[in-house]
Amino acid sequence: MTRSRRHPVKETTNLALPLAGAPSLPPQAPLSTLLALGGLLTGGRPEQQAYERLAHRHGPLVTVPTPMLGNVVMLLEPRLVRAMMSSPPGALISGRGNAVLGFLYGRSSMFLVDGEPHHRLRRLLVPPFRNRDTLARYAEVIEAVAEDVLDALPVGKPFALLPELRHGMLEIILRVVFGIQDEARLQPFREAMTELLDLSTSAATTARFALRRWGGLRRWERLQQALARSNALIYDQIRRHREDPATEQRDDILALLLRTRTEDGNLLTDTEIRDQLVTLLIAGHETTATTLAWAMERLLRTPDALAKLKADFAAGSTAYADAVVSETLRLRPPIPMFSREVAGDFEIGGYRLPPRTLLVAHVGYIHQRADLFPDPQAFRPERFLEGRQELGSYSPFGGGLHSCIGNHFAALEVRLFLRVLLARGDFGVPSNSPEWQMRKTILNLPWQGARVTLKRRAVRP
Ligand code: HEM
Repeated sequence: MTRSRRHPVKETTNLALPLAGAPSLPPQAPLSTLLALGGLLTGGRPEQQAYERLAHRHGPLVTVPTPMLGNVVMLLEPRLVRAMMSSPPGALISGRGNAVLGFLYGRSSMFLVDGEPHHRLRRLLVPPFRNRDTLARYAEVIEAVAEDVLDALPVGKPFALLPELRHGMLEIILRVVFGIQDEARLQPFREAMTELLDLSTSAATTARFALRRWGGLRRWERLQQALARSNALIYDQIRRHREDPATEQRDDILALLLRTRTEDGNLLTDTEIRDQLVTLLIAGHETTATTLAWAMERLLRTPDALAKLKADFAAGSTAYADAVVSETLRLRPPIPMFSREVAGDFEIGGYRLPPRTLLVAHVGYIHQRADLFPDPQAFRPERFLEGRQELGSYSPFGGGLHSCIGNHFAALEVRLFLRVLLARGDFGVPSNSPEWQMRKTILNLPWQGARVTLKRRAVRP
């Protein structure tokens, strides 16, 4: 019997409470806080078990006071997550959870703004990431990069796949989002953006953010230099694109941002464009590389699923590959939680929450609840062939007004990479033991970076 069955979520406790007049917080207990914080730091099974105990003891709405972000209310039940996703306009905002990396994204990043300015950015940026024709053209870039990545992998000795995939994802973003084509210009971007990406996932960044009032960020030379270097390159790229008549015909995201007028008739400013480019870089890089690394880690240890995937690719279908992507995101979501901050009147589960409370949907926990996903630890893509999963029960891309705009693009990247890697590469694993999950800032990474061995590689057609 699994742990989840022994610790079913207490369904009624704090969902049935009548609404009090004054704002109040759901229950908290010192032990719960310790368990939750310990779990958040470690990730993986210990975290899952900590949250199972919390939900069993207090119900699916639990307050965890944190030193950096204040009172955090964890949502551990699909219908509460759905309530958060469909909150009335103005009740919840993006808030402090997303602001942690705000000094990298910039103030006008779509991550950080709300209301009309946010709608305006989404109206501009969502279409190219959803349009079939544009995605088909991006697919050519993705496939070419995947072939290059495969050709550069060492044959015959174990290595970590994740760093190699990170290079590949950066390459795709530089071409598709930043619109850079020639090698001479790509190189300085690779170096500068890698530094920015390293900072976005470094523990030092979180610590410095906590000390920001005392100059933790302002006086951090490494950060200031990285920002100065990357900004100089990005603003130069914006200027070149703006002056180039060919921009009219281009379909990279930068070209689109430069030529689209918003409904009020204005063009975006250079700063607004810079902030969206950096947001897309940080939002789309590590997340996709990690998903792909986990997909390979799970597939190479689940021979049935690997065989079915290869057979499906050979038959020209993508149905099983899509199911593999979804199952990877269920079992190993790279971002296991997402947040909103209470801004106006907001009621959930019988509580009227005080303003500034941070709500966190713990989808990583919900995805592994045995009552929602039978045999939750098994990697079984078939469960996604049997029908769509309900939002709230399955939400690796968040949901509502701030939901991920790159979900289709990311799924395409992972699917195409898998097809290229498995068509020409014969991969194995140095050890059959699964890789542990490791928490780094908010990311859920494979402990050893998904170690594999490339036994043979066929020649590129
Ligand atoms: C498997 C890969 C990915 C995962 C798991 C993922 C996950 C997420 C999650 C959980 C959020 C927060 C949603 C919310 O708060 O409701 C988010 C937001 C976002 N993602 Fe992704 N993402 C992925 C890939 C991408 C890619 C490839 C791009 C673009 C190149 C992208 C662009 C964005 C942007 C711009 C936002 C902010 C949207 C807003 O605030 O309105 N993501 N993503």
